[in-house]
Amino acid sequence: NSHIPVITIDGPTASGKGTVAHKVADKLGFHFLDSGSLYRLTALTALRRGADLRDEHAIAKLAEHLPVSFAGGEILLAHENVTQAIRAEEVGNLASQIAALPTVRQALYALQLGFRKAPGLVADGRDMGTVIFPNAQLKVFLTASVEARAQRRYKQLIDKGFSANMEDLLSDLQARDDRDTHRAIAPLVPAEGAHFLDTSNMTADQAIEQVLKWYAQLK
Ligand code: CDP
Ligand code: CDP
Repeated sequence: NSHIPVITIDGPTASGKGTVAHKVADKLGFHFLDSGSLYRLTALTALRRGADLRDEHAIAKLAEHLPVSFAGGEILLAHENVTQAIRAEEVGNLASQIAALPTVRQALYALQLGFRKAPGLVADGRDMGTVIFPNAQLKVFLTASVEARAQRRYKQLIDKGFSANMEDLLSDLQARDDRDTHRAIAPLVPAEGAHFLDTSNMTADQAIEQVLKWYAQLK
């Protein structure tokens, strides 16, 4: 199914991947894959089951049998709406730890490929253009300065009624960047042929427009 168009959007945390990918998919009438949610769902399940985090085969088994479904922007885990629950900081941090396990990445591989359906797909994450869809029609590497990203996260958290501390956010972000870029398997690196987009001084709408423009130029 390599003829079905895929746009990959990879980048570090809080660079705006989710926001941009979601809107681009909407505009084009494409399907949308938030691959990070799969690592978050695995992490949430592991937490709830009290799984032994050193047992990578046990964690991979959880990943392989995720009873997940996506419906109209909501994420269901065996019929329970976990859209909010997987956004907790605790879940995000554990997600980034289990994402370094090769068995877990392998377990989620086929599930991700299955999202490539007509008329097309926009997929966001860390390795969409490098590992999962290396033959994507358009690859984007979205980034922004660590300060800009910390500001964005801060605003998101405050808007949702959570408390947040800028200093903690900055160090948390740097730790996550470090783990995601330096792990042995599927590290966060720009894919070959990726378009680079630094959005430090851009609005989300401007970033969305740039991606749509690149896509239109393909034809
Ligand atoms: O929202 P944020 O960018 O912080 O994270 P996310 O995209 O929801 O992903 C959570 C974690 O899953 C990341 O920190 C990555 O370590 C991992 N992940 C990954 O390894 N590969 C992907 N394709 C997507 C996420
Ligand atoms: O998915 P990722 O972790 O990369 O980021 P996100 O969850 O989409 O969060 C990015 C936040 O920054 C959202 O609240 C956006 O409205 C905002 N933002 C953006 O995405 N892009 C810009 N150029 C400026 C702000």
